[in-house]
Amino acid sequence: MARKKISVIGAGNVGATAAFLIAQKQLGDVVMVDIVDGLPQGKALDMAETSPVELFDSNITGSLDYEATAASDLVIITSGSPRKPGMTREDLLQTNARIVGIVAENVVKHSPDCILMMLTNPLDIMTYHAWKISGFPSHRVVGQAGVLDSARFRYFISLELGVSVEDINALVMGGHGDTMVPLPRYTTVNGIPITQLIATARIEEMVQRTRDGGAEIVNLLKTSGYYAAGASLAQMAEAIILDKKRLLACSAHLTGQYGIDDLYIGVPIKLGAGGVEEILEIELTDDELQALQGSAQTYREGIALLGY
Ligand code: APR
Repeated sequence: MARKKISVIGAGNVGATAAFLIAQKQLGDVVMVDIVDGLPQGKALDMAETSPVELFDSNITGSLDYEATAASDLVIITSGSPRKPGMTREDLLQTNARIVGIVAENVVKHSPDCILMMLTNPLDIMTYHAWKISGFPSHRVVGQAGVLDSARFRYFISLELGVSVEDINALVMGGHGDTMVPLPRYTTVNGIPITQLIATARIEEMVQRTRDGGAEIVNLLKTSGYYAAGASLAQMAEAIILDKKRLLACSAHLTGQYGIDDLYIGVPIKLGAGGVEEILEIELTDDELQALQGSAQTYREGIALLGY
């Protein structure tokens, strides 16, 4: 069987982290593309030289030329400008829309049958933008947000309870930003809802820390975090390449689900070889639904700024 091919556009912090993890998982051969000469080539060579130590056989190469990405099964777009301290993800809108527009056009030209995975912020808006530029059916364009946001929530819960992260599942819906909607009712420790294990006020603090999770790292690091984001991309890549049909919260195109039409926003989906194979409509309380629709409203304004 021919090896799968995964291209990562943007060989910066998140792109390189994702590429390295994808190669280590041996999901296929990996190509990194960037505009900075030497960056994708140098990082790729450095990563490839870890293969005899870490024992993986995936090829990793870097290029400035989209030709190298031709016939990819999966293309992950991380190219963009990172968030500086004090900047919201929305501030990045216009700059990153220009970058994502050019990148998506080039990607589609060389890999017309790929699945497109977005990471560039503001995530839900950039995913919509890439979908429009690509002309792909919406199930082949998906955004990474909920996997990272729920990973942060899961980590905070494991700290709080002193329980292995392995036993903690969390669901975070909504946009990847200040309006995200962590759902404690659907967040469990080996099946037990955290609402039975942790006091409401304390859960609320952890929910807020999750919402501020990106900013907490930006304040320390003076740029966006990238290990957890890169790992989240690699997990989604694994679900697609191995057709695992994982049930994960991802940014997907809604067509009326949850009362939201024609927007990309974080919802539970089934992720497999076909991309977004199903969007799950779970039961939400009035408050939860209102929070989700409120989150959607900010993204509707965001895509309007891009002329949609
Ligand atoms: N084509 C290809 N690569 C590009 C382009 C372009 N048109 N424009 C910028 N890049 C590359 C940069 O050269 C850089 O190497 O994208 C990379 C981005 O990497 P970092 O600056 O390290 O940013 P990172 O932390 O990886 O974040 C990537 O995710 O969280 C979001 O807002 C953040 O948009 C940013 C993205």
